[in-house]
Amino acid sequence: PRERGWVVPHIYKYHGVWHTPAQLRGVLALHQHFQAQDSDILLVTTPKSGTTWLKSIMFALMNRSRYPKSEQHPLLKTNPHVLVPFLEIKLYANKELPDLASFVSPRLFCTHLSCTTLPNSARDSACKIVYLCRNPRDTFVSLFHFSNKLRTPNLPPNSIEEVFDMFCEGASVYGPFWDHVLGYWKESLRKPQKVFFLKYEEMKEQPTLHLKRLAEFLGCPFSKVEEKEGVVGDILELCSFGNMSNLVVNRGGRLESGEEHSAYFRKGEVGDWKNYMTEEMVQRLEKISEQKFKGSGLCL
Ligand code: A3P
Repeated sequence: PRERGWVVPHIYKYHGVWHTPAQLRGVLALHQHFQAQDSDILLVTTPKSGTTWLKSIMFALMNRSRYPKSEQHPLLKTNPHVLVPFLEIKLYANKELPDLASFVSPRLFCTHLSCTTLPNSARDSACKIVYLCRNPRDTFVSLFHFSNKLRTPNLPPNSIEEVFDMFCEGASVYGPFWDHVLGYWKESLRKPQKVFFLKYEEMKEQPTLHLKRLAEFLGCPFSKVEEKEGVVGDILELCSFGNMSNLVVNRGGRLESGEEHSAYFRKGEVGDWKNYMTEEMVQRLEKISEQKFKGSGLCL
């Protein structure tokens, strides 16, 4: 049921988290077959929080010695979603199980799974988790646009009010949004060596600082020589919104799963919510955030 594109009338709650039927099939297969290894890196995000961006950054970071300043860099001709596949939406989405033997260690995977539905091996092994989220206002606006990109063209567009109501009620894919973020926030406080918590807004504001922190967390810090040679800036430039959205591969065509490459690149800004949300909507989101995050120290 892709009719409404992520705003489907029948999404299912599994362990407190909402999924489309297709996602749920992937989640169940993943639970049955995926075994995290100690050396794995999992990028976990809430939908529309900048997953595509962080996929490209982490791929570039972790493969920087293989592709130093190269015109052959895979990111120039391959969408980040292909280079860093989603576990439940891509690898475990088909009938045949994926052959993960071809992934070189450290394996880098992505998922939108909530803390409560992560496979045990991911929780119990020493694998590291990089978590990315974004303020609920921009997340919602991005989700609203994305839902209309994915829906079947002959159906009328989803209205912003309808998507907003579902988002607030928690009934958006992988929602409730607040529970998702809070779960990983608490884990990052409990196990800072395992969970690295990052906000889209922080990354936009101080990309160099956070890229260096990320490299240290992943155990591959930039050397003095690399810093001098501008490697940090090169990665950020390669993965910038302007560069990535202009690459031929990301302007035309579709991913194997059907989405247009361009659906993942819209504005890439902080604060676009001001162009879409009424004061009433802002207040409603604020109120939910206040209630949900109360006492947690988390602010989005
Ligand atoms: P907007 O819809 O606000 O523009 P995801 O990758 O999790 O689906 O998130 C998509 C959001 O990240 C979109 O936000 C998209 O434009 C933005 N984005 C994609 N690539 C980006 C990049 N390289 N830098 C910053 N933002 C990016």
